[in-house]
Amino acid sequence: MTAPAPWPGRLSLGLHWGVGVGVLGLIAFGFWLRTVPGGPDKTALVQIHKSVGVLVFAAALARVAWRMREGFPAPAGPHAPWERRGAIALHVFLIVATLLMPLSGILRSLAYARPVSVFGLPVIPKLFEAKHETLYAVASNLHDGLALALSAALALHVAAALKHHWIDRDATLTRILGLARRTGR
Ligand code: HEM
Ligand code: HEM
Repeated sequence: MTAPAPWPGRLSLGLHWGVGVGVLGLIAFGFWLRTVPGGPDKTALVQIHKSVGVLVFAAALARVAWRMREGFPAPAGPHAPWERRGAIALHVFLIVATLLMPLSGILRSLAYARPVSVFGLPVIPKLFEAKHETLYAVASNLHDGLALALSAALALHVAAALKHHWIDRDATLTRILGLARRTGR
């Protein structure tokens, strides 16, 4: 990893919001799916969730490659060392979770003896002839548990962004929104 980028560039902003909106949408859609009764309508809805999930996975991988190249952006203000360490730990968790969510979803589908496709385009063929009970239990518990942990981490992430904006009054939030100029808020 190189030295921290002084300011997130357009690609960083695009990847943050592309992956971010995708993940927030998939979490909301996924929890709503729980309430839909089984049947052909639900199968079609799960198919949409899976297709979008695989696309978000591709964007999340691109983001990891970009982060490894660029490093995390330097702090937008004089943040305390604990705050800087906390932010990096939370960001690393968010990045890892955005990879593990789709991976566990893919594994869950394969264990259910289903192939994985993106809006009809085959991506991974069916691996098992019948449901693999153990793998299914592991993958679905991981997918569901991570969804809760990720939701809690995102609540903290947004609260921290608002704290920087309203209490510290620095450019942390405005620069990720693409609104701040490099000279200040
Ligand atoms: C309303 C939603 C969101 C807001 C207001 C928001 C706000 C922010 C802010 C202000 C930063 C900059 C932190 C800094 O400069 O050090 C940031 C970075 C980051 N955010 Fe978010 N965020 C949101 C949604 C998300 C989501 C859904 C994810 C992941 C699933 C996410 C993952 C990250 C990560 C990994 C970083 C580190 C920098 C990067 O890799 O781009 N954020 N976010
Ligand atoms: C960032 C990506 C993803 C997120 C944030 C996400 C989120 C969620 C959430 C919140 C749920 C509901 C959890 C629960 O019932 O407690 C869910 C369910 C599910 N997800 Fe994902 N998911 C993602 C990607 C994927 C992918 C790529 C696949 C498969 C290719 C997948 C397959 C499934 C399946 C099969 C269910 C169960 C639906 C049901 O029968 O109710 N997910 N997901």
